[in-house]
Amino acid sequence: MWDKELNVARQAARDAGKTLKDLFGRVNHVTKKGKTDLVTEADFTAEKIIMDMIHKNFPQDGFVAEEAGEHRSNASRIWFIDPLDGTVNFAHAFPFFAVSIGLQVNGDAVLGVVFNPYMDEFFEAAKGSGAFFNGKAIHVSSTSDLVDSLLAVGFPYTLHRNPHRVMDHMKKMAVLAQAIRRPGSAALDLCYVAAGRLDGYWEEGLKPWDTAGGMIIVREAGGIVSDYHGNPFSPDKGTIVASNPSIHAAMLEVLKG
Ligand code: IPD
Ligand code: CA
Ligand code: CA
Repeated sequence: MWDKELNVARQAARDAGKTLKDLFGRVNHVTKKGKTDLVTEADFTAEKIIMDMIHKNFPQDGFVAEEAGEHRSNASRIWFIDPLDGTVNFAHAFPFFAVSIGLQVNGDAVLGVVFNPYMDEFFEAAKGSGAFFNGKAIHVSSTSDLVDSLLAVGFPYTLHRNPHRVMDHMKKMAVLAQAIRRPGSAALDLCYVAAGRLDGYWEEGLKPWDTAGGMIIVREAGGIVSDYHGNPFSPDKGTIVASNPSIHAAMLEVLKG
């Protein structure tokens, strides 16, 4: 049903990803958007590639793009674009970053693509069609206890202003889980949950472009994506808990406070 959109999203992610890979390790201009929030020439170049391709194919659609801002214009179809998720990693030549693109129609997530060009790992999903990693179907893990779970967390760029709640959650989760990682790309964290590499992931202070691509990939892989209160997640919500169905309640128990 979403074949044309998926093809355009795939091509845009691959083309932008190629540019990111070419620029990797050669970043010259890093600008600060906040104390720790960076943007590089790679973010702008990759975003332009994606925006041009989407606009050429779907000129009526709205968009929410990290660097270009948003233009929803009452459109029922909105593209969410993060041209480089993991900019801090990228700026340090730490090879864990991705392109993330999601499409919502009438507020419903219908497709997501996330591409890590450095590792050549392509994740995608369309509503009702399952989730795929490099063309093969993926499913969330079946780990049933937190003590056996590998979890990921992300920290908001505003952490330095109010670290207490985030660190409190971290402290509580760290003693319950098998181990915790902070990989540095929300989009890939979600895809790793979808692929069963991680059992769960949580973060607060997120923006719509961070999560719109990955959230549907987790859902189509059989996972649950909610806010910290267990309500269904949508990209305009800042808090996210994504996991396999068996450990979701236990994660919420830690995060609800
Ligand atoms: C960031 C990454 C990071 C997450 C931050 C995001 P950016 O996106 O996804 O893992 O912890 O909350 O803002 O700035 O690299 O696109
Ligand atoms: Ca991001
Ligand atoms: Ca970004």
